[in-house]
Amino acid sequence: MVRPAMSFSARRSALMKSLDRPLLLFSGGFISRNYPANSYPFRADSTFLYLFESPEPNSAALLDPAEGTVTLFLPERTIDDALWHGAQPSFADERARHGVSAVLPIEELEKQLEGRSIDSLAIADRRTNARMRALTNTPLDFDDPNQVATRPAVLDAIAKLRLIKDADEIAQMRRTAAVTKEAHESAMRASVAGVKEEFLAGLVEGAFARHGCVPAYGTILSVRGEVLHNHAHTHTLHNGDIVLLDAGAENASGYCSDVTRSWPVGDGFTPEGRDVYDIVLKAQEASIAMVRPGVRYREVHRKSSLVIAEGLVAMGLMRGAPEALVESGAHALFFPHGVGHQLGLDVHDLEAFGDRIHYPNGRTRSTQFGTQYLRMDMDLVEGMTFTIEPGIYFVPAILHSPKFREQFKGQVDFERAENFLTLNSGRGFGGIRIEDDVMCTGIGAEVLTALIPKKRDAVEALAGAA
Ligand code: GLY
Ligand code: MN
Repeated sequence: MVRPAMSFSARRSALMKSLDRPLLLFSGGFISRNYPANSYPFRADSTFLYLFESPEPNSAALLDPAEGTVTLFLPERTIDDALWHGAQPSFADERARHGVSAVLPIEELEKQLEGRSIDSLAIADRRTNARMRALTNTPLDFDDPNQVATRPAVLDAIAKLRLIKDADEIAQMRRTAAVTKEAHESAMRASVAGVKEEFLAGLVEGAFARHGCVPAYGTILSVRGEVLHNHAHTHTLHNGDIVLLDAGAENASGYCSDVTRSWPVGDGFTPEGRDVYDIVLKAQEASIAMVRPGVRYREVHRKSSLVIAEGLVAMGLMRGAPEALVESGAHALFFPHGVGHQLGLDVHDLEAFGDRIHYPNGRTRSTQFGTQYLRMDMDLVEGMTFTIEPGIYFVPAILHSPKFREQFKGQVDFERAENFLTLNSGRGFGGIRIEDDVMCTGIGAEVLTALIPKKRDAVEALAGAA
């Protein structure tokens, strides 16, 4: 059973039970784009979003476990702010809306905290972090998982809550899944020869905007799917190309989807495209079928690796037993990334908290090429939400590497693989990835993004159907 919905104040109370001293959190402010007054849209820190509904920029909260109080610090209401940004509710209204013990001006924060020993958490807004470093007298650093909190226990306490989604959070993710479906389907339908990638990316992000959502991360839409995070949208589609779209909506509450689909341009997949698509889909479905509480995520990754190795042997691209190919890391020449990651308020949920959270119990990352990018190795727990996203790619830099050619010469047929780089009138095969968002239930997996077409004949039928 999914954890019952928790109110924001219940989440704060639950967090305070794991704290042994006051915790100061910030929402963050506007982050400048090209000059100070031209900023990116405000996006509150994810932990703050988890604890407060629709927080305002430049606010802070002090959770005091000894007193059992939550104090919210908000910017003073000024006429100038009302003029340029609109009037904000009064402190009294905000106190009632959030159900906190008190609301004080953030301008008084330093005075209020004088002489107190507090914990804090770094966030993406560097200006705010500078203030936090001074307040806590610690080297807080958002870019360093070892310095992202004043003490690691803070990370553990927050992760314990955020990793297990409650019913409200799952409902939010179902909503972003529906928006993401519309976005993917509109790009699929419009994929005909002559169309530019940027037009399709516009359809995707337009669908998000029409539902009050933003891209949860830079939209990846490319016929060069072998470039894993290809954010450029400059190519024109040709018949025989494969479009890879990795895009997900984020709604106003901050919850994300992260979905990849791959489809052909023209009259269905080529024979090679068909073979590769079927292997990737089989790998993804086999990994999803493994999901249940207690299963180690590394094994979910290994399952996709084995199915991919087996499929590539059948295609004549690899030689040997799948177990041996995966053991040596040869499969990673074609599947060079991890099978997924946690998903929630961050598209890679809690990634800033580091491997302390994602590789618990003394587990460490593989040192092998490809497998080292596996973003988590946890035992799955009911209520966790994460992606499952295997892929097969033909990457010139990998297939031409003298090091890999020597290391895997008995296991990879480099001559045959090389042919994939010149298929499709020399443009090359590219890559295929299939990604869904999955919730671990008490008995298995529920695919939150299951309605987005994925069967080969379904994506072939929709591609270019306008
Ligand atoms: N959606 C991009 C990624 O998972 O890295
Ligand atoms: Mn992903």
